[in-house]
Amino acid sequence: MRQAEQAQGSLLPEYHRATPECPHPDRWSMYDSMTAEAEVLEFLRTLVTTVKPELVVETGAFLGVSTLWIAEGLKRNNRGKIVSCELDPVVFAKAQAKIAASDLSSWIELRNESSLEMQIDGVIDLLFSDSDMAIRAEEIRRFLPQMNPHGLILMHDASSHLKVVREAALKMEAEGLLSVVFLPTPRGLVVAQRRDR
Ligand SMILES: C[S@@+](CC[C@H](N)C(=O)[O-])C[C@H]1O[C@@H](n2cnc3c(N)ncnc32)[C@H](O)[C@@H]1O
Repeated sequence: MRQAEQAQGSLLPEYHRATPECPHPDRWSMYDSMTAEAEVLEFLRTLVTTVKPELVVETGAFLGVSTLWIAEGLKRNNRGKIVSCELDPVVFAKAQAKIAASDLSSWIELRNESSLEMQIDGVIDLLFSDSDMAIRAEEIRRFLPQMNPHGLILMHDASSHLKVVREAALKMEAEGLLSVVFLPTPRGLVVAQRRDR
């Protein structure tokens, strides 16, 4: 949070080290090391305007930056909503204030709860899993029955260096639950879909 406050919204070079799949991470930018890479934020917004989801679920809002980029896509579509959760109450309060100060709050439902307890009504068209890396697989398994079979599942931090999310995605693919594609970004991003289409 301190890094985000010091940067005051200005872009910094991406901090993540090179991986075989992404040998030049310095070509990417970031606001801080917790918020998704700036280019990934742009991708999230573009994905929302491309597939026009009715319901987006995000796990791990942090300061609400990715939540706001997704909401910007929803606003452009003039439809849909995002439900996001942040476990840490102090971080949640900051995200809540940021969202309230934006013109996007009507598109967002932000909850101070764990992704592993969050109850979602209805069919999820886009799931962005970006909470604690160790529980990402549990999150996906939890929300999978509610996923639109044509919907998209994104798992952040899936680089070969970070391992845990990448391995979780490959395991779920091997179990026949998901079809996965790895985008070679600095921190890694899985784009997946339910297998039972
Ligand atoms: C990488 S940051 C999210 C960054 C944010 N999505 C963005 O790109 O702007 C991960 C966040 O997940 C939160 N978190 C960790 N475990 C969680 C859980 N079980 N449920 C909800 N949030 C969680 C952390 O407190 C942290 O703020």
